[in-house]
Amino acid sequence: MKIGVIGTGLTKFGEIWDKSLRDLLAEAQLKSLEEAGISPKDIEMIFTGNMCAGALSGQLHIGAMAAENLRLNVPSTRVEGACASGALAIRAGIAAIESGAAKIVQVNGVEKMTDVSTEQVTTALMGAGDEEVEGFQGATFPALYALMARAYMQEFGLTREELAAVPVKSHKHGSMNPIAQYQKELSIDDVINASMVSDPLTLMDCSPITDGASSIILATESIAKKLNNDAVWVVGSGQASDTLALSNRDSLSEIKATRFAAEHAFKQAGITARDVHLAEVHDCFSIAELLAIEGLGLAKKGEAGKHAAAGHHYFDSKMPINTCGGLKSCGHPIGATGVKQAVEIVHQLQNRAGKRQVKKAEVGVAQNVGGTGATVVVNVFKR
Ligand code: COA
Repeated sequence: MKIGVIGTGLTKFGEIWDKSLRDLLAEAQLKSLEEAGISPKDIEMIFTGNMCAGALSGQLHIGAMAAENLRLNVPSTRVEGACASGALAIRAGIAAIESGAAKIVQVNGVEKMTDVSTEQVTTALMGAGDEEVEGFQGATFPALYALMARAYMQEFGLTREELAAVPVKSHKHGSMNPIAQYQKELSIDDVINASMVSDPLTLMDCSPITDGASSIILATESIAKKLNNDAVWVVGSGQASDTLALSNRDSLSEIKATRFAAEHAFKQAGITARDVHLAEVHDCFSIAELLAIEGLGLAKKGEAGKHAAAGHHYFDSKMPINTCGGLKSCGHPIGATGVKQAVEIVHQLQNRAGKRQVKKAEVGVAQNVGGTGATVVVNVFKR
């Protein structure tokens, strides 16, 4: 498989009071078109990742909104898979091109989350869990990931300081990313002493509530070569599922679906974990980043925390992880996150990542998780 990414677009991530859901989506869509140097009428299909617009903005039918933004009548579909909606939209775009149904596809992600209370957002997000087994009992996502953190700490002896190294690194990267929601550095003490959300996870272990949108343009190999002499290629894609409820899993200290999705994506790309130069992973909570790194095979089970504490995941170190600041510092507008991860990898592979540029990167991987790991997508990008 070789599908070109010929354009990217991102809005600022954060509390964007002066822009609506539609404004954010349109801004990202227009930016990716402009970068690709094509006009709206070149787009044959649109896929847009979104989870919460129905619950938080009273707006469904996001597919039609995306087409209307470009004044198009082409097929345009909203894709939903909880926090993995963005990467699922990329997979839908890949499938459209691979099947021959379209030659140029726009893939977007959008979420507008800050216009309502934290309670409303928390309730809406729990739709990604198992309502009968978890939501109805009062569980929240911070609580579920806290259970995973505790299980992992007990099994592998992860220390609080090692876990805190994850957001410290993310905020360092976010401080160098002009679109990030929180562009400030943190210390280990800042993380450990922040207000407790769900023990052991403090406020600084949690991704925030965020508005934002992202967009990429995918094209067939021949069109991409014609339009962009610096195209980055999607060369592998995998998706896997697991139980909705954490309590039905074999283990709380791994996200098994990451392993399955990565196996498929890496095989398709003809690579192994050793070939990966950088990764964007789904750090919705600090522990999730460690589970992602291990699931991708970038560290042995139980060792990712040691690597984090040793500083291996900084942009200028052995295995750069979440160079955009990750969900933690860049922010996590649910449907937009998976597409934003792709944008960061593309910018890194094209040497456009500014102060946080990784040197000589040629293969990048993006891992996007829905719920506590019930849906996982892994996409592989190559220069
Ligand atoms: N990281 C850093 N700072 C944060 C933050 C975060 N995650 N969340 C909030 N802040 C800051 C705010 O900017 C604010 O600062 P200010 O007082 O200087 O303006 C302060 O902390 C309090 O923010 P507030 O909005 O009152 O926080 P909250 O208690 O309403 O929400 C969480 C905090 C952690 C509960 C919320 O961000 C959350 O639920 N995160 C998880 C989202 C989630 O589950 N996503 C899906 C993952 S699967």
